[in-house]
Amino acid sequence: MIIKSLELTDYRNYDELSISFDEGTTVLFGDNAQGKTNILEALYLSATTKSHKGTKDRDIIGFGKNESHIRTYIEKEGIETKIDMHLRADRSKVIAVDETKLKKAAELLGIINIVFFSPEDLSIIKNGPAERRRFADMELCQLDKFYLYNLNNYNKIISQRNKLLKDISLEPGLRETLSIWDTQLVSYGSKIMERRKAFADQIGDIIRIYHEKLSGGKEKIEVRYEPNADLDNYADQLASSRQKDISAKMTTVGPHRDDFSFEVNGIDIRKFGSQGQQRTAALSLKLSEIELVKKLTNDTPVLLLDDVLSELDSSRQNYLLDCIGDVQTVITCTGLDDFVKNNFKINRTYQITNGKADLKTEDLCQI
Ligand SMILES: Nc1ncnc2c1ncn2[C@@H]1O[C@H](COP(=O)(O)OP(=O)(O)O)[C@@H](O)[C@H]1O
Ligand SMILES: [Mg+2]
Repeated sequence: MIIKSLELTDYRNYDELSISFDEGTTVLFGDNAQGKTNILEALYLSATTKSHKGTKDRDIIGFGKNESHIRTYIEKEGIETKIDMHLRADRSKVIAVDETKLKKAAELLGIINIVFFSPEDLSIIKNGPAERRRFADMELCQLDKFYLYNLNNYNKIISQRNKLLKDISLEPGLRETLSIWDTQLVSYGSKIMERRKAFADQIGDIIRIYHEKLSGGKEKIEVRYEPNADLDNYADQLASSRQKDISAKMTTVGPHRDDFSFEVNGIDIRKFGSQGQQRTAALSLKLSEIELVKKLTNDTPVLLLDDVLSELDSSRQNYLLDCIGDVQTVITCTGLDDFVKNNFKINRTYQITNGKADLKTEDLCQI
């Protein structure tokens, strides 16, 4: 699958934009705050219905406007598809695929698969468990509609249960009602845990190869799922932590506290890794994500690299650019030096200035 083009109306700092992408690499370059990331965000929205930053629709709509349109044209096996997204300030968005309105936004998932790589991803090993859960959730929600459904329900129940825990301190009689929530929590939570375990195993098999190459054969990496609750005893653990939950006024056990461990040569690099090791592992992880999507969907995802090249040293830049291979890629950056230096071929280049995209036809070295 490739993304052919994108049209934006009253979206972020674009009044009107029409931009087409090469099936190889398209580079968007320009100064800061000109709208480069906004274009990647629009592509991500077309794939997942959500902004990668978690921004609400009303804040994505151009300042002073009431609605905005994103139209994305894709091609798969010679067939073109149009995805039309209509964002509205105070109502939920309307999505149509080839002029047919979707009943639920989630029906869109699976048409476009995106791997989004931003500088923050390079800190995924160093940062806290929430970032690693977010990584797994962002990918799993794209790959698996049931996962999305289970996760949405789980999160809803956690917030309702936490509200109830607060109310119990004022009205102890409410304690009885906890078990209604707990049954549902275990049902959705167990499914999340099973899928995360499988995900860690799948990613773990792929990342070994990348990491070994990236570290010059010196490092062996293991990724493991680190569940907060034990899948077989989850219901019991939830029941026995009730008193603690009531005192803490929040749910202290369950997959909302999960983590994934990263060991290199037997050492937990989340805590003890050098910054270089952590960044190498993060890069290996993103590359593994591309490979996993290819494997599970039988299609190539679209890779969005948001300002990451300048964050990497020359050898890692080279490795990343080499690995891209046949994956359609859209790269944002402030300058083109890294490509010239690495002798990397760009198929199409746009300069982004203040909400306008200007196609460059000159030789890159001249820019
Ligand atoms: N809802 C919005 N309406 C209009 N402009 C916006 C909106 N949200 C962000 N912007 C503008 O978009 C610009 C940032 O775009 P971004 O794509 O992040 O830039 P960069 O080129 O650095 O990646 C800023 O000038 C910001 O004011
Ligand atoms: Mg940016």
